[in-house]
Amino acid sequence: MSRIRKNSRQVCHSQPLCPDIANVAIAPCVIVMVGLPARGKTYMAKKLTRYLNWIGIDTRVFNVGEYRRKATELYKTHDFFRPDNEEAMNIRQKCALDALEDLCQWLQGGGEVAVFDATNTSRARRQMIFDYCTGKHSYKTFFVESLCTDPLIVEANIREVKVTSPDYMDMNKDDAVSDFKKRIHHYEMLYEALDEEHDKEMSFIKIYNQGEKYLVNRVQGHVQSRVVYYLMNIHVLPRTIFLTRHGESAMNETGRIGGDSELSNKGKQFANGLAQFVEQENIPNLRVWTSLMRRTVETAGGISAPKEHWKALNEIDAGVCEGLTYKEIQDTYPEEFANRDADKYHYRYPGGESYQDLVARLEPVIMELERQENVMVITHQAVARCLLAYFLDKNQDELPYLKVPLHTVIKLTPVAYGCLEEHISLNVDAVDTYRPRPPSVDLMRTSHEALATVPPYLGDGEVFNGSSSPEKN
Ligand code: ATP
Ligand code: F6P
Repeated sequence: MSRIRKNSRQVCHSQPLCPDIANVAIAPCVIVMVGLPARGKTYMAKKLTRYLNWIGIDTRVFNVGEYRRKATELYKTHDFFRPDNEEAMNIRQKCALDALEDLCQWLQGGGEVAVFDATNTSRARRQMIFDYCTGKHSYKTFFVESLCTDPLIVEANIREVKVTSPDYMDMNKDDAVSDFKKRIHHYEMLYEALDEEHDKEMSFIKIYNQGEKYLVNRVQGHVQSRVVYYLMNIHVLPRTIFLTRHGESAMNETGRIGGDSELSNKGKQFANGLAQFVEQENIPNLRVWTSLMRRTVETAGGISAPKEHWKALNEIDAGVCEGLTYKEIQDTYPEEFANRDADKYHYRYPGGESYQDLVARLEPVIMELERQENVMVITHQAVARCLLAYFLDKNQDELPYLKVPLHTVIKLTPVAYGCLEEHISLNVDAVDTYRPRPPSVDLMRTSHEALATVPPYLGDGEVFNGSSSPEKN
C-alpha cells in the first residue's frame, strides 16, 4: 500500500535538484527487533528512527518495555521473566499486543515506518506480529535480529545501560548485573533465532557480534534496503565528532550570504586558534573534512591531520540571492523572503537549494561519518545545522534555526541512546550571522505547540540529547 507522502511538500521555484526521498511514495513498513536482552536492539531502534526521520521518513519506535512498566509494578527480580511465571507471561503478552495495536493505528494515521522494539525471541511471537501487520494490515514486515555471543560485550552493555534502568532503581550495580544475567537466561531457554531455512519467506537481517557478520534475506523495497545499508555502516566504537564553521569571512563581515570569499583577519585568528585547539586535544587518528570553498579550506590550513574536501559540504546555494544581504533580499524579492520565513525548511531559493535539498545532499556525508572514528568537519552555517539535526534528533521545524555561531567548536560524543553536545568557544570575536525566526511565525508556532521539555542539565555547556534507558517486555 503506498500513499501521498505527508512531508512531500515542496516550495519549488526553480529546477529540481538532487533526487529526494520526500518525493518517493513509501509503503508503510514495520521493523521488528529480535534478540536476547542487552543485544543493542533499543540502541539500533532509536538510531535508525533518528536517521529515517532525518531523511524525511516519518518513523516512530514502540517500545514494549515502556508498556510493561506502565502496566505493572510487579517487577522486583528476574523471576518476573521466568517462562513458568504465568501471571507475568500474560501481562507481557498483553503489553506486546497493546503496543502492536497502537503501532498499526499510528501507521493508519499516516506514519510511514514503525519500529517494534521488543525481544520477539519466539517463532510464535514473530508469526503473530507478521500475521497482524502483513496479513491483516498489508504492511511490510522486516525483522532485525541482533546476536551476540561475546560475554564481554553483553556484560559491557548491561553495565552501560541496564543498571540505570528504572527496574533497578533500588538495587546496587553488581546485584543489578547479576539479576539481569538471570533475566537473559530465562529468555535463552525459549529463544528461537531467525533461521535461513525455516524463515526463508520472511524479510530480515541478522547482525552478529556488533557487525562482525551479517545475513540478509528477501529485502523488499526502498525502506528495507535503506535500513540494511544503514545498519551495515554504523559502529559502536567510542569516538568524537567535532563540528565547526569556517572562520569569519570577508562576506560575513559585510552581512552578505553565500559567495566564496576569503577569511577576514578575525577569521584567520580563528584558523590559528583551531589548529592550536586540535594540537592540545591530541585526538587519535583525527581526520579533517572541509567543503570545497575557500573559507573552510583556509580554516583547516594550519591543522596537522589528513584532510578531505567534500563538495557535499559546500554552503546552501542561495541561487539568485547569492551575495545579497538579508535586507537586500527582502527589498528585491519580498515574496521570496516571506515564503522562506513561512517555511524555511522546504523553501528553495530560485536557482538554488532548500534545507530539504541539503539533507539529501548530505546523506552520503552522514553515512561516511557513521563509518569513521574521530572526525573534525569544517563547514558552513546551513550545512552544520543539517548535520547537527541528525546527531541531536531535531525536527524539520527546528533544524533551520539551530544556533551554530562562528568561532565555536561543537563536540559531539555518541553515548548509549543519544549524543552529548558541548560548545567550545575559541574566544575570537566574530559577527553574528544568525537571523532568528521572525516573531510573527514564532507566535503562530507557539500557539499551536505544547512547551518543549527541558533536557537534564549535565554540566558546563553539556547537554544530553537522548532519553533514559528503556527496557522491553
Ligand atoms: P533489552 O531487550 O533488555 O531492552 P536491548 O537489546 O534493547 O536490551 P540495548 O538497551 O539497546 O539492548 O543495549 C544498548 C547497548 O548495546 C549499548 O551499550 C550499545 O553499545 C550496544 N550495542 C549496539 N549495537 C549492538 C549490537 N549490534 N550488538 C550488541 N550490542 C550492541
Ligand atoms: O551568512 C552566512 C551563511 O553561511 C550564508 O552563506 C548562508 O546563505 C546562510 O548562512 C544560511 O543561513 P540561513 O539559512 O539562516 O539564511
